[in-house]
Amino acid sequence: MSNLAIDIQNITKTFGTKTVVNNVSLQVPRGTIFGFLGSNGSGKTTTIRIICGLLTPSSGTGTCLGHDILTESASIKQKIGYMSQRFSFYTGLTVYENLRFVADVYQIKNKNSEIERIIEDLNLQPYRNIKAAGLSGGWKQSLALACCLLHRPELLFLDEPTAGVDPKARKDFWDYLHKISVRDGTTILVTTHYMDEAEKCSALAYINIGNLLYSGSTSEIIGFSKVASYLVTGSHDALQKLIEEIALNYPRVLAGFVNNNLRVSACNLVQLQQIMAATPELSYSATTPSFEEVFIGLMPE
Ligand SMILES: Nc1ncnc2c1ncn2[C@@H]1O[C@H](COP(=O)(O)OP(=O)(O)OP(=O)(O)O)[C@@H](O)[C@H]1O
Ligand SMILES: [Mg+2]
Repeated sequence: MSNLAIDIQNITKTFGTKTVVNNVSLQVPRGTIFGFLGSNGSGKTTTIRIICGLLTPSSGTGTCLGHDILTESASIKQKIGYMSQRFSFYTGLTVYENLRFVADVYQIKNKNSEIERIIEDLNLQPYRNIKAAGLSGGWKQSLALACCLLHRPELLFLDEPTAGVDPKARKDFWDYLHKISVRDGTTILVTTHYMDEAEKCSALAYINIGNLLYSGSTSEIIGFSKVASYLVTGSHDALQKLIEEIALNYPRVLAGFVNNNLRVSACNLVQLQQIMAATPELSYSATTPSFEEVFIGLMPE
């Protein structure tokens, strides 16, 4: 058995004349929590649908859990869970009825005990007889996750699972992902626009307008990006002037306030040095780039 849960090679997808996934190769080792990042319309969902065997690529090859993505989609579907960008369950059914429905569709053995297992695992007991429409955002998300996990998938695809969910529910959700990753060995591929969530992944891929810009460990992306960041201090007026100057003349340099500190970052060190030389009234101290700075810095000009 390959140690790769996902192994796709040179995948391209075009819709009409538009190439939305461009020659993407991706390897996801089993057991990883793999973050798949990229701005809106970059091709994340399209790539996921191709890996699941739900969409045929225009060219390229690949396997998902050892099955050919072009010819073995039925086998893939049995072994994966897919939480799509829009939570998919029946709002008119209760939590229990939704799970019962999924158990029937997947023809799960030991339906009752499996449903009770997942209800308990996700702390859904108090809500079991509540209609899904009446659940708060965080519990809707838990129900959607329960529906995806009921058949014990080896590989879980989560497409923006925490969009619009409050910080406590997001933390609980991520704690649960780490729990099943360790306890059950589940491989997880998750898309997110939240940078704090990117940092919780063991490996990351970053796609921009269909092109893969990075794939590798989470700890190495800062060095790979070549982004340099500085904390800038000085009078309020001078800082404000600096922001305006950067916005006007340095489109590839990022400047913005975080925690009441002005942060300036860029891949282009020459431009950063020019800015520093032109503003002797300000003091600059080097700092570790944030993930937001890294991802924006990685975008091509
Ligand atoms: N069936 C389709 N027909 C035509 N264009 C499509 C189709 N599906 C997706 N696209 C286009 O492909 C591009 C990539 O879309 P995709 O949904 O994969 O991006 P995404 O990275 O998931 O974005 P988001 O972060 O907004 O979810 C977009 O420009 C989208 O409009
Ligand atoms: Mg998407």
